[in-house]
Amino acid sequence: MARNLLILSILLLFSALTASESDQYFSKKISPSSLGHKKEKLTHLHFYFHDIITAKNPTAVQVAEAAMTNTSSTLFGAVFIMDDPLTVAPELTSKMVGRAQGIYASASQSDLGLLMVLNFAFMEGKFNGSNLSVLGRNAALSGIREMPIVGGSGVFRFSRGYAQAKTHTFDIKTGNAVVEYNVYVFHY
Ligand SMILES: *[C@@H]1O[C@H](CO)[C@@H](O)[C@H](O)[C@H]1NC(C)=O
Ligand SMILES: *[C@@H]1O[C@H](CO)[C@@H](O)[C@H](O)[C@H]1NC(C)=O
Ligand SMILES: *[C@@H]1O[C@H](CO)[C@@H](O)[C@H](O)[C@H]1NC(C)=O
Repeated sequence: MARNLLILSILLLFSALTASESDQYFSKKISPSSLGHKKEKLTHLHFYFHDIITAKNPTAVQVAEAAMTNTSSTLFGAVFIMDDPLTVAPELTSKMVGRAQGIYASASQSDLGLLMVLNFAFMEGKFNGSNLSVLGRNAALSGIREMPIVGGSGVFRFSRGYAQAKTHTFDIKTGNAVVEYNVYVFHY
């Protein structure tokens, strides 16, 4: 009887030890399929970005600048926050597929070189509710600019890729712009 009790308590102690050991880990290797990820896909997204600075309801606002920004030909030091609509066609009235939310700042003294830090928040089809994060340099007066996609959420988990931006229309008087985006992204 006493011997059985002893064996039982050793067994219990052993299982308690192994349970606490398997509960405590900092890292381990897992397979992508254990997270429901099967095959990596490449998706091409195409949309138009509306950056409206001058309007009754602007979508981008300047929030800061340096004392010397107004004497800089590149607006060095100016910081803008945007919540810009993304549409399927160049017209603002065309179907909205998402929004570009983030910051752009003039970070070059020799050309119009913007630091772009933003999230594309999508609202269309299977991408509704998923986001992509962009961090890159945008030489806004050049032809096609390329910015890295550094990650994403929702269907865009594990994303990597790039976005190409090409100015569709730019009004020098108002500063308002429509920019065509082609985004190429790997995700599961
Ligand atoms: C630039 O802005 C500063 C205030 O930040 C002002 O004192 C200065 O007069 C402005 N310079 C020009 C050229 O507008
Ligand atoms: C996107 O998702 C939101 C919330 O789940 C929903 O209200 C909305 O109707 C969806 N939009 C589209 C275009 O599917
Ligand atoms: C994407 O961003 C929106 C806000 O724009 C947020 O509501 C949503 O939860 C994000 N999606 C995921 C999958 O995190």
